[in-house]
Amino acid sequence: MQTVRKVADLRRIIRRARQQGKRIGFVPTMGALHEGHLSLIRRARKETDLVVASIFVNPIQFNNGADLSSYPRPLARDARLAASAGCNVLFVPSSGEIYPPDFQTFVEVTQLTRRWEGKLRPGHFRGVTTVVAILFNRVQPDIAYFGQKDAQQARAVGQMIRDLGFNLRLKVLPTVREPGGLAMSSRNQRLSPDERRNAKILFESLQEGKRLIECGLRRETEILRRMRARILKIQGARVEYLAVVDSETLEPMGRVKRPAMLLLAVRIGKTRLIDCLEVR
Ligand code: PAF
Repeated sequence: MQTVRKVADLRRIIRRARQQGKRIGFVPTMGALHEGHLSLIRRARKETDLVVASIFVNPIQFNNGADLSSYPRPLARDARLAASAGCNVLFVPSSGEIYPPDFQTFVEVTQLTRRWEGKLRPGHFRGVTTVVAILFNRVQPDIAYFGQKDAQQARAVGQMIRDLGFNLRLKVLPTVREPGGLAMSSRNQRLSPDERRNAKILFESLQEGKRLIECGLRRETEILRRMRARILKIQGARVEYLAVVDSETLEPMGRVKRPAMLLLAVRIGKTRLIDCLEVR
C-alpha cells in the first residue's frame, strides 16, 4: 500500500490506473478505522482493481472545535489496518491540500439535510458534501463505498451524486455491529466499560421498533414511546432524536408505511451515538 499526501501524486496514480483500464473503488474516512470501515475496504477490494481510501479529518463538518481537536488520529495503526484489508492507496491530505487559502465553494443538499443530524449540527452536511465532492473529483472512483450507519449522510451523498452528475456508483453497505449489537463507531472508544455495556440497548430499541412495525403497529407516537422507554433505562442517557421516517426522503410519516427507517441519536454520558435500522 502506498501512502500519498499530495493531490499531484494521487493524480499520477489515478491516471496510470485509468490507462491500464483499472476500476477504482473509493472509501472516504476520517480515520480511527474500525471494522465498519474495513468491511467497506474489503468489499472495494473484491469489486474493483485499485482501492483508494482517504483519511482526512474534515474541519468544516465539525461545529464544535473541541470535538475536532479531540478527534482520534492514530495514523500508523490506521495504515496497518487499511493495508491488511486490501487498500492499495491511502490518501492522507493536509487541510491546505483540500482547502487552498482562497477556498470559497461549497456543496449543499438542501431538503434531505434539514432534519435530524442536519438540524442539530448546523453546517455539518454542507461540510460533508463539500469534502466528498472534492474527494470524488480527486479520486475519480467508479464505485464509492459508504456505511449505512450514517443513513442521512449516505442519502445526502446519493442525492449530490445524482444532482451534480458524478459519474460513479454509490454502494451503501450494512452497519457492522459489536457482538452485543452496538454499531461500530470511532466514538465508541470514548465510552466507559459500563456505558459500552449499556449502549447495546440502543440496538435493542431499534429492533423493538422494527418488531412493532412488522407486527402491524402503525402509530408513530406509540412506536417511539416504547423505544424511548427502553432507551431511558440506560443510566445517563439523553435522547436527542428518535424517529421513524420514510427511508427515501427521511421525512416523518405519522402513520408508518414500509419501507421505513428508524433513526436515533442518543448521548450516553459525554458520548453522542447515532444508529438506524431499516424496516422493509
Ligand atoms: O463518514 C465520515 O467519516 C465522513 O463524514 C466522510 C464521509 C469521510 C467525510 O468527511
